[in-house]
Amino acid sequence: MGVDVIVGGFFGDEGKGKIIAYHSLKVNAKIGVRAGGGPNAGHTVVKDGVTYRLRLIPSSFVNPASRLFISPGVLVDPDVLLSEVSALDVEGRIVVDGKAGLIESRHIERDRSSEFLSKNISTTGTGTGPAMEERVGRRLRLCSEDPRLSNMIGDTVESIHEELEAGGKVLAEGTQGTFLSLYHGTYPYVTSKDVTASAVCSDIGVGPKTVDEVMVVFKSYVTRVGNGPLRDELSEEELQARGWVERGTVTGRPRRAAPFDFDLAKKSVRLNGATCCAITKIDALFPSAKGVRSFSALPQEAKLFSEKVSSELGIRVAYMGTGPDLLDIVEPPTSTG
Ligand code: GTP
Ligand code: IMP
Ligand code: MG
Repeated sequence: MGVDVIVGGFFGDEGKGKIIAYHSLKVNAKIGVRAGGGPNAGHTVVKDGVTYRLRLIPSSFVNPASRLFISPGVLVDPDVLLSEVSALDVEGRIVVDGKAGLIESRHIERDRSSEFLSKNISTTGTGTGPAMEERVGRRLRLCSEDPRLSNMIGDTVESIHEELEAGGKVLAEGTQGTFLSLYHGTYPYVTSKDVTASAVCSDIGVGPKTVDEVMVVFKSYVTRVGNGPLRDELSEEELQARGWVERGTVTGRPRRAAPFDFDLAKKSVRLNGATCCAITKIDALFPSAKGVRSFSALPQEAKLFSEKVSSELGIRVAYMGTGPDLLDIVEPPTSTG
């Protein structure tokens, strides 16, 4: 067994949190390791009626057998991390790599006071971009230097390779989305690093040959928070009428939205080397799919949509999301892909 990588296929907020949580239980991941940005991410996981909003803790926390790692590629805001650790009661399971970068209050201030970042780019204001600038400038302090994190610090890269050698499954959790990538996205309206599957491997310290599956998560429509192009963007009235109104998990800003974009999805499959995909919010397109948990019980239009995605993209649809709960998932039979 090797590494499964899960990444966002559009502009973030595709529902990776829920898909990662489900997958970690399904493959019994021994390690869930957070790659990607920092606390600019906001994953939502709904389990047993409780809604968890995670910014740094891996969504694999739902699997009690999973060790939870934060990789060297991630930027950590200790205030955010410590409050999540105590809210989720995961102390003892969490290891922060000593080489992960530290976000300090001056980064947050700079993110919010810079006219360019806050107004033109419309960043999340979490200090992630300014801290990344310092990391590239080789001045950023690392997590190993913060006494508040001392009991969580370890070498996650070494532990991942030991687990892989022992035959365990490692689940690498990406954040944001492919078109927010610094290199492959809609520059300059992007985040401060590459966030495609190759970058996820680099963040956690494994080579591409260790990867078993690359799963790209799409939502049944495209959303985007902040500035930047969005093809076929719908008006606010149209979003209300379609029931596609969403707000950002971190910033509370309304999410812009457009219909599912097959061209963008195809590019995403290429950029990530996807072996399979997940499509969330099928229930937003086909209300009678809500809460359905078996492929045979899905409305015919939902089955046809999944088949169309699979044939257009040339990959298997592994999961279809039918509601916010972790278990509101359908696994299409492999013959449809
Ligand atoms: P980032 O890491 O910020 O990119 O976020 P994310 O990809 O983890 O997604 P986020 O949780 O920010 O947004 C997805 C939203 O859709 C959340 O409110 C989820 O609860 C919800 N959601 C996920 N899957 C489904 C689904 O299949 N159906 C419905 N109705 N809601 C879903
Ligand atoms: P930053 O990552 O805070 O610098 O923000 C840069 C751009 O990426 C802005 O348009 C943000 O709205 C967007 N962004 C960053 N993280 C996320 C995310 O997790 N979900 C959706 N958009 C994000
Ligand atoms: Mg989000």
